[in-house]
Amino acid sequence: MNILILGSGGRECTIAWKLAQSPNCGSLFIAPGNAGTVEYGTNVEISPTNFEEVKKVVLEHNIQMVVVGPEDPLVLGVHDFFLNDSELNNIPVIGPQKYAAQLEGSKEFAKEFMFRHHIPTAKYKSFTVDNLEEGFQFLDSLEAPYVLKADGLAAGKGVLILDDLNEAKKELEEMLRDQKFGAASAKVVIEEFLDGIEMSSFVLTDGENFVVLPNAKDYKRIGEGDKGLNTGGMGAISPVPFADKEFLTKVEERVIIPTVEGLKKDKISYVGFIFIGLIRVNNEPYVIEYNVRMGDPETEVVIPRIESDLVDLLTATAEKKLDRFTLDINEKSATTVMMVSGGYPESYEKGKEISGLEEIEDSIVFHAGTKLDNSKVKTSGGRVLAVTSFGDDFEKALATSYKNIEKIHFDKMNFRTDIGFDLK
Ligand code: AMP
Ligand code: GLY
Repeated sequence: MNILILGSGGRECTIAWKLAQSPNCGSLFIAPGNAGTVEYGTNVEISPTNFEEVKKVVLEHNIQMVVVGPEDPLVLGVHDFFLNDSELNNIPVIGPQKYAAQLEGSKEFAKEFMFRHHIPTAKYKSFTVDNLEEGFQFLDSLEAPYVLKADGLAAGKGVLILDDLNEAKKELEEMLRDQKFGAASAKVVIEEFLDGIEMSSFVLTDGENFVVLPNAKDYKRIGEGDKGLNTGGMGAISPVPFADKEFLTKVEERVIIPTVEGLKKDKISYVGFIFIGLIRVNNEPYVIEYNVRMGDPETEVVIPRIESDLVDLLTATAEKKLDRFTLDINEKSATTVMMVSGGYPESYEKGKEISGLEEIEDSIVFHAGTKLDNSKVKTSGGRVLAVTSFGDDFEKALATSYKNIEKIHFDKMNFRTDIGFDLK
């Protein structure tokens, strides 16, 4: 089977690495890919959100399945584009259609879905500029800290958590009246603050059946101790040590099953990954958010722990046969540590040569923001490399990742040395 992966990050590199191991993987293409994905397939220099170009690639290379990495093409309707095109509509796309992608694309849509299906989540109300005064009153009725979320996609920056009531009111006004996050904050969801520890569950559904993939925890802030600005993620661990059998049963019964059943009840067709951001409060799971894709860097620990053939798993998904699929999982821990460009997540330089990659032992280096320049591997993004390792526990796995990171070098490189600090 010829397969096209859309995207260019560590997540897509990991999916490419895993698909390429399958005897059922024919030619593999990654659009646009990075300097790492060329080891597993062929990069094609197109944008995943230019659907006409995607179509050309699909027809030219006789692609038989498309796996969508990031949310943008899904939210913009890449799956719908395939269904509405007579030359493409028999080619399975792994990733939901535009309507369902609102689970990630609109916080209000996701909250309404959760309340409709009695899925535990924080209480909320949403506001526009027309009822700003009511928004202030709602803030008055809550206790600090205050959680304000831009309704739409805001590149991970649209959530503010504020301790001061007046500051929360000022921010609400800026989001609604001054469009602080552009159109994304034309509507703002204000929610009750939940105090707990976060983790994520990953589910793959064919619309009828589902399989639960390994869970993971990521580290979003740039600084040690989870301080400083939000990033796409600086590292991840799978499985999450505190997520014991009892807690995971609660997650499956109260969150995963109602989510898949809710989609069916609402007649929302969904084929693809569901990433459920959870918070544990008094040993009860609450949903913080849905994403309609895999996480990055969570994929770099979740996918390597899957021992089953990924082409077979995705084929079963496309054919609605996940009920017959037995997922084999590696019981070891996997960890990944992100190596990032100095300055990230604010401005940073690109084009730094990366050395030491050939010296890596016992880890897998997934490329994220890298590109080939005259056969040299250079940095081309904020998050550059994800160094993934296995171990009997996450601390042993981490030690291997950190040992290998010492061998890698690029100018101004940065990484967190405390991944997993809150799990010890
Ligand atoms: P989101 O984009 O909705 O995942 O929010 C980003 C981050 O804000 C989450 O990963 C949490 O750390 C935090 N957060 C979001 N909603 C809440 C909430 N209701 N209570 C506490 N923290 C939250
Ligand atoms: N690591 C968080 C995300 O992929 O959204």
